[in-house]
Amino acid sequence: MSVISFFVDGIKRNFSVGDAQSFVVGKDEVLSQRDTDVVYDQSWYNNGYTESDFLSPDEYDALKEGLTESVKRIVQKETSIKTEGFSLENYHHYVTTDEDHLKIVSRTRDLFSDDFNFPVLTLLPRLENILNFKLSDIDPKTKEKMHIIVRINRPQSKDFNPPHKDVYHGVDIDNYIPLFVNFWIPVCGATNKSNLPVVPKSHLLSENKVLRTIGGSEVEGNKYRVCVIKSWDGKNELTRSKVKYGQVLIFSSHLIHGLALNDETDKTRVALEFRLFKA
Ligand SMILES: [Fe+2]
Repeated sequence: MSVISFFVDGIKRNFSVGDAQSFVVGKDEVLSQRDTDVVYDQSWYNNGYTESDFLSPDEYDALKEGLTESVKRIVQKETSIKTEGFSLENYHHYVTTDEDHLKIVSRTRDLFSDDFNFPVLTLLPRLENILNFKLSDIDPKTKEKMHIIVRINRPQSKDFNPPHKDVYHGVDIDNYIPLFVNFWIPVCGATNKSNLPVVPKSHLLSENKVLRTIGGSEVEGNKYRVCVIKSWDGKNELTRSKVKYGQVLIFSSHLIHGLALNDETDKTRVALEFRLFKA
């Protein structure tokens, strides 16, 4: 075991990684270019992300209510937990074991499933308006439908991914750069102690400055599909997004993000997480 460290808003965090993992840098090339990054022409491209107004207070309330009902139904279906008075913020008071939590999140990975009574597709035109181009939830290469994930992150838990770039999966496995953009919509428990950390401008770095694993990773004994990035230009600092309720965090698929530790002591954080392709 060895230890890697990151700073999230200035607070140092240590994580153990398996010794078998090797960290490598890539070639002297910037992967985010006009033809490989669909947000290249956005006014915020230089930062790599933006927090954009998205839902009215009423629409946000409806979203939260719909998701609360849906998650409650999954808890009822998958476990024997009593759900009287259930709320998403207090999820961790109801779902108190990892075993039950894993049963639930295996179902909340797909918002298009019958378990959800929320009209997800109504979000699409809104996002198209913000970005000023058409979006699709079908991967043009695999023809698979993208899943919208309801990410449930319990306070002080390990329910998060290590720092990574979404684009590496395509680059490493398929040797191509898929044209998608990432969205993250806070639903509850999203505060300056739990919001998603990003590394501003990290998509502009040459790959020979990014030290990372290839093809998955193992951090704190958990196996991840994503690689873990140990440092970028010799740095290891992330900044939490300041995205608020009613807003959507939009970021380049080339941007380093992750390590969304929920440092709240008594609030579960729930966010919608998904990617869409340029149509
Ligand atoms: Fe990601």
